[in-house]
Amino acid sequence: MYITQVGAECAPVAKVGGLGEAIHGLSRALAEQGHQVEVILPKYDCLRPDLIEGLHRAYEDLQVPFYDQWLACSVESGYVDGIHCFFIDPHSDHGFYQRGRIYGEVDDPGRFAFFCRAVLEFLLKTGKQPDIIHCHDWHTALVPVLRWEVYEALGLKRPRVCHTLHNLSHQGVAGEYPLRAVGLDPARLMTSDRLLDRDRPHAANLLKGALVYADAVTTVSPRHAWEILHTDQGMGLQETLHTHSHKLRGVINGIDEGTWNPRTDPHIVQTYGPEYLPGKACDKRQLRQQLGLEEAAKPIVAIVSRLDRQKGVELMRHTIHYALENSCQTVLLGSASEPWIDELFQEIRRHSDGSADCRLILEYNEALSHQIHAGADIMVIPSVYEPCGLTQMTAMQYGVVPVVRRVGGLADSVFDANYSDQAFEEVNGFLFDDPTPAGLESALRRAIRLWFRYPAYFRQLRLNGMHTDNSWSGPAQAYLDIFEGIRA
Ligand code: ADP
Ligand code: GLC
Repeated sequence: MYITQVGAECAPVAKVGGLGEAIHGLSRALAEQGHQVEVILPKYDCLRPDLIEGLHRAYEDLQVPFYDQWLACSVESGYVDGIHCFFIDPHSDHGFYQRGRIYGEVDDPGRFAFFCRAVLEFLLKTGKQPDIIHCHDWHTALVPVLRWEVYEALGLKRPRVCHTLHNLSHQGVAGEYPLRAVGLDPARLMTSDRLLDRDRPHAANLLKGALVYADAVTTVSPRHAWEILHTDQGMGLQETLHTHSHKLRGVINGIDEGTWNPRTDPHIVQTYGPEYLPGKACDKRQLRQQLGLEEAAKPIVAIVSRLDRQKGVELMRHTIHYALENSCQTVLLGSASEPWIDELFQEIRRHSDGSADCRLILEYNEALSHQIHAGADIMVIPSVYEPCGLTQMTAMQYGVVPVVRRVGGLADSVFDANYSDQAFEEVNGFLFDDPTPAGLESALRRAIRLWFRYPAYFRQLRLNGMHTDNSWSGPAQAYLDIFEGIRA
């Protein structure tokens, strides 16, 4: 099958969080199964060109309509971890992708609407007719809309569009301008059964457009597919999701085992695997040295996360206090999405400076994240909601026991050591329900106790996690089945 992935991120060249990892991992898995896969991204100034092999200009003069003008773009191409990637590079004063970051600009709806139109124009002009265009999140939500409303008539008839929802809290809600900018008729499209936002009377909701126009809609775990239909996690889109529920499926993400593999990880001092766990003890010593923590018979309780409301910032804070009160060491690596959250953690960092047991590193740091995985014993993920979550899976891969809230993909991938129906070899962590300190403690207490009192059982949990299949092979097959279904 010929599959074109379209997204705002692709690890490791443009990664903010799990979206970039998911597009990268899925693309690699599909290509490994022999499918023709390409990824189209904006050419951000903050891309990592050093990680792109054979980067060259593949298309010179792509003219893309924007309001009543044509904006000239070039398209560059190269390979990222063996994946064929194309980068759209507009040459206009807007500097759409010259902002030093991927998101967070006031004109994000316009920047990404333009990207959608440019992608389709590129496919049309180069005569590419993929079987499937696979789009992700609100940034690419106008692709299915434009394909149907504009490009079908221009000749882009073959592709069917699958749209994957990674995070419904961002929907691309703006006035009608992004539609007008890319040549769509707001009067026709801004109706309640199409792109009109449910709660804001004059706003276009781009993500809603994807739900209406895509041939298939997926989200990143089966449990989250249920949550968005039946709870407020649908974030205002429940009604639209219900109308289109026949095309909605949940497919859990995998992790890329080339990137997350303690046997080969170049970021860690001692490689290890389930057959050689003592190597992990060496990485734990190294992590302590590197962060200035004391060497002691204590578990390291870690958090690696965006510091965002979604991730349960209050419970992260409680994790730090509770772990320290219960004779553990704690390490947090994260960067905040809002100033008040940053201040919350800066304050803890100031208090813990010089502590023998606690370190907060408030930045984005890929290498350190691998080193924490290698050195830690317990990973806490207390999310308010979590469409999939990758950290619980990467933790397991490194023999770190996850303690997670029972939501979304966390509930689909972590099986409680004490209370699950799974076979003994399949339990791999601890779960809690209530998003409260008491709820968190009900799981974290059990993990910590097990580490201190029953090390052999704790070791077994590590091994169970390391043997859990969190690879992309099953999920990639599930996507292929969906793609086949809409092709037919
Ligand atoms: P989300 O996409 O919602 O942030 P995921 O669990 O799907 O959550 O993916 C997050 C990814 O980003 C994981 O690979 C995690 O290790 C990584 N990550 C998050 N914060 C940091 C950070 N401060 N430094 C390095 N990696 C981080
Ligand atoms: C989003 C979600 C996260 C998911 C990731 C990749 O960022 O918050 O749960 O794992 O996308 O699909």
